[in-house]
Amino acid sequence: MTFHRGDDGKLRTSSVDEILNGRRLRRLRRTDWSRRLVRETTVSVDDLIWPMFVVEGENVRVDVPSMPGVQRISIDIAARQAEEAAELGIPAIALFPYTDPDLRDETGSEALNEQNLVCRATRAMKAAAPEVGIVTDVALDPFTSHGHDGFLRGDEILNDETVDQLCRAALVQAASGSDVIAPSDMMDGRVGAIRQALDGAGFHHVQIMAYTAKYASAFYGPFRDAVGTNKTLRGDKRTYQMDPGNSDEALHEAELDIAEGADSIMVKPGMPYLDIIRRLKDAFSVPTFAYQVSGEYAMIKAAAQNGWIDGDRAMWESLMAFKRAGADGVLTYFAPFIARQMKTRG
Ligand code: PBG
Repeated sequence: MTFHRGDDGKLRTSSVDEILNGRRLRRLRRTDWSRRLVRETTVSVDDLIWPMFVVEGENVRVDVPSMPGVQRISIDIAARQAEEAAELGIPAIALFPYTDPDLRDETGSEALNEQNLVCRATRAMKAAAPEVGIVTDVALDPFTSHGHDGFLRGDEILNDETVDQLCRAALVQAASGSDVIAPSDMMDGRVGAIRQALDGAGFHHVQIMAYTAKYASAFYGPFRDAVGTNKTLRGDKRTYQMDPGNSDEALHEAELDIAEGADSIMVKPGMPYLDIIRRLKDAFSVPTFAYQVSGEYAMIKAAAQNGWIDGDRAMWESLMAFKRAGADGVLTYFAPFIARQMKTRG
């Protein structure tokens, strides 16, 4: 019952029925079968990219304390996990190395070593599970003594010199069997340069997944624990990663990356930047990925461990949100947990 004033100035009531004119949206939500029928967005195992941290040694699993449930693993275990990905139907794995601090230098020269961790892991994983795509990150930060993604002179990150080095690193990764080169460095012109380098060496089939809109974010903290760059990083990455206040700039980045030959683009972090995913998807209609980064994972896990939220439901809801925003797939540390649940639920 509601109240309104009639034409004669008198107070009248009308029923909710009269107000709605028969249109009740709760009708569709009443039952589970109906909710399932009208659901606009679904999460599938085909949406998942599983990020893994590799470390030297054999049969090694080291917990990453700021990422409960995530470990640094040695290559033999990574190969087993690649087999698990295949069994679960997870399409692809993204690899990140924890490089021995002794191997880190000013220019990240270990990135060019064909026997570095990522290259050896790629070979082992492709041998174990050839049907699973391997995505390798191209940025110098796991290899530099200063923790930056490029060459550092004084306070400046040198763009063009870095791009040269990234091209060489991409070729080394492609030669070890990487299926997708994912430049996460945010240097200008790197996508085009890497495309040329790959094609010049006969790697026409190797994809480029560009970290297109990568923001200078506080949410990368736990990742930097995992790859061991938190302690070494001098200063911040604001001269190359994007300003969190910007949205139009993401379109400019995407325009360049696509023109330079990116096969797919990415927005990172994920949940705080759903608006950017939607804008890029609407504007360019190319495969668009979200990276649900380490800090997002850590927040959900920490709140769940405290009993403050239902961790499982939050995990599913977060994945749904990426899909609803327009993402074609998500890099997420939840990938194996989601996929295992899907498998047992059938
Ligand atoms: C390296 C890189 C970072 C992440 C992916 N690749 C960290 C950074 O740029 O400092 C972050 C991923 C995460 O937080 O989960 N360039």
